[in-house]
Amino acid sequence: MKGMVFTEFFEMVEGQYGYELVDEIIEDCELESEGIYTAVGTYPHAEMVQLIVSLSQKKNIPVPDLLHSFGRYLFDTFLSKYPSFFHAADNAFDFFSSIQDYIHVEVLKLYPDAQLPEFRTILKDEKRLHLVYESERKMSTFALGLLEKGLEYYKEDAEVIVENLEEDGSKVLFKILK
Ligand code: HEM
Repeated sequence: MKGMVFTEFFEMVEGQYGYELVDEIIEDCELESEGIYTAVGTYPHAEMVQLIVSLSQKKNIPVPDLLHSFGRYLFDTFLSKYPSFFHAADNAFDFFSSIQDYIHVEVLKLYPDAQLPEFRTILKDEKRLHLVYESERKMSTFALGLLEKGLEYYKEDAEVIVENLEEDGSKVLFKILK
């Protein structure tokens, strides 16, 4: 997982709960990286899992809810760092259906070792967009946070229905309905 994801996670935690808690969760986890991340470096995904589980225990917030808030938070980071991806689409459906074949392809050019999910568009018309998320990192609630903020960004009113296709959360169907 890219270091940028870790540094943004710490910023979110610091903003919401203060720097002491960032320190505490790093201490708690006994990380190989010792909690030192550079934006361009790559670190084990397992370290992010440890940090989120620790925060979840300390704050008594379920892990999926934390991932959801983190997705919403990271949307704004992506928007300020990579505005061209957002300007390339006129509406939310075009933006979402470009994740797999455009946005994450460009991400891989910038960071060849990025670990990205599959995000296939399986149905698209005026009123409906169906996306299938697939990743062994099981971060679908993170994806949901990004999708919700995407709808807000394009000022579109739509409902997102989430259906688990695999019990372990590694494959999820998002139905976005206008
Ligand atoms: C609504 C839009 C987007 C969705 C739903 C989405 C979805 C995701 C998800 C779910 C992950 C976590 C990895 C996994 O589940 O396997 C991820 C990682 C990532 N995405 Fe996207 N993404 C979106 C837009 C973007 C944009 C605009 C960028 C801008 C460059 C971006 C860059 C990245 C990066 C850098 C990672 C981390 C890769 C790593 O740590 O190795 N994504 N994305």
